[in-house]
Amino acid sequence: MVNRTGERRVAGSWLGPRRPIEIATDGENGLRKTLSWPHLVGLGVGAIVGTGIYTLTGVGAERAGPAIILAFAVAGVVCACAALAYAEMATLMPTSGGAYTYTYSVLGETLAWIVGWSLILEYSLACSTVAVGWSGYLVGWMQSLGIYLPPAILAGPHAGGIVNLPAVAVALAIAGMLIAGTRESATFNIILVAIKLTALTAFVALALPAFDADKFTPFMPYGFGSEVIEGKTRGVMAAAAIVFFAFYGFDAVATSAEEARNPGRDLTIGILGSMAVCTLIYMFVAVSAIGAVNYLQLGTSAEPLAFVLRSLDHPFAAWAIGLAALIALPSVILVMMYGQSRIFFVMARDGLLPRFLSRVSPRSGAPTTITAVTGVFVAVVAGFFRLDEIAELANAGTLVAFIAVAVCMMVLRRRAPDLPRVFRCPQPYLIGTLATLGCIYLLISLPTHTLTRFAIWNVAGIAFYVLYSRTRSALGSKNDHPA
Ligand code: ALA
Repeated sequence: MVNRTGERRVAGSWLGPRRPIEIATDGENGLRKTLSWPHLVGLGVGAIVGTGIYTLTGVGAERAGPAIILAFAVAGVVCACAALAYAEMATLMPTSGGAYTYTYSVLGETLAWIVGWSLILEYSLACSTVAVGWSGYLVGWMQSLGIYLPPAILAGPHAGGIVNLPAVAVALAIAGMLIAGTRESATFNIILVAIKLTALTAFVALALPAFDADKFTPFMPYGFGSEVIEGKTRGVMAAAAIVFFAFYGFDAVATSAEEARNPGRDLTIGILGSMAVCTLIYMFVAVSAIGAVNYLQLGTSAEPLAFVLRSLDHPFAAWAIGLAALIALPSVILVMMYGQSRIFFVMARDGLLPRFLSRVSPRSGAPTTITAVTGVFVAVVAGFFRLDEIAELANAGTLVAFIAVAVCMMVLRRRAPDLPRVFRCPQPYLIGTLATLGCIYLLISLPTHTLTRFAIWNVAGIAFYVLYSRTRSALGSKNDHPA
């Protein structure tokens, strides 16, 4: 790594100091370059395919009707634009921390803090969402075996229960594995990816023959936008704002940049390839599901894909897809929780969060304290809140991070046009603007209660920054007291 620009501080600016841009130079960092593009596509698909397609397809169908297919397309296009910006930034600055680190170097500490604070929502709440989705499949799967657990321990108070215990258990189990130093091995990941994709392919193969074109009329029962209809936020954009969840996780590929053999080629194919594979699969799955059962029924199930197969009288396939979800979804939690612990770690190392959080276990090499804190937070949210509301808040955080990355990419093109970019986003200002506006449109399409919670989260974050982080920032104090 080498500091190429030496930029430091926008003196006195409320945007705070800027971290020097560290760009990649061959062979100078400690991590071994072992990953090639097939590994990265595998890593991407492993992190991307999860509760978004397995569960939120039902929620999306309820919000948009058959036009959920359009919602997947809108979310996919916005995500692809953001992914291009990500690919440029990740190959230029292949360091830990992703969007937070890019923002720190390009826009300054204050905005970096806001992005880091949003990333907490992205990663932690994505883990909670997947944990709740996993619980839905567990309950349905056990019922298909004739095992019925008490409802009070299967849902939070919002659904008449006490706590969603399976969701809490899976979240804590994954945190425990990470604390013990587990990292998903590339081979294990490929096996899980194969299970997930085989299950989705089998789903399409069994559901598509039951395709009934009449089920697509009316195609857009709630219109294109996002408005409250019958007490629920509905419309294509309302659905896009939630199924957007199904697409992220590709940034996990970006965080592996330091380990890529040939970052320019491998990361580009890794990020865009995994996005393309997933978008294609999602469209097929959505068309098959909507063509097979009425979209309103789809929205009532906590395990919609198994529900479709049961409705079509394929009980064994329904059981098998449930099993596939149970085996494979925890890997999404593992990747996301790992990402979260690394973001926290970098923020703590920068002095913006209490430093004890960045302590690493000498035995396992894992940041144990922060992983435990993350695990408890994820488990509490998963235990007591509704799946769609958690996913929406995770999406809000992710959208802010994506906007930041697109803006950073454009600002840096102007400010430092000559940096040696390994991957250059095509039409950077067009793609960057599309990503930014697309993410803003998705953000404002979220329900009002989600936007209110997001605003409260940010007010709390800014208060923490002003009262704690600003004065303890490692970079800020270095600039204030030059050695
Ligand atoms: N995209 C991931 C999922 O759908 C987060 O589970």
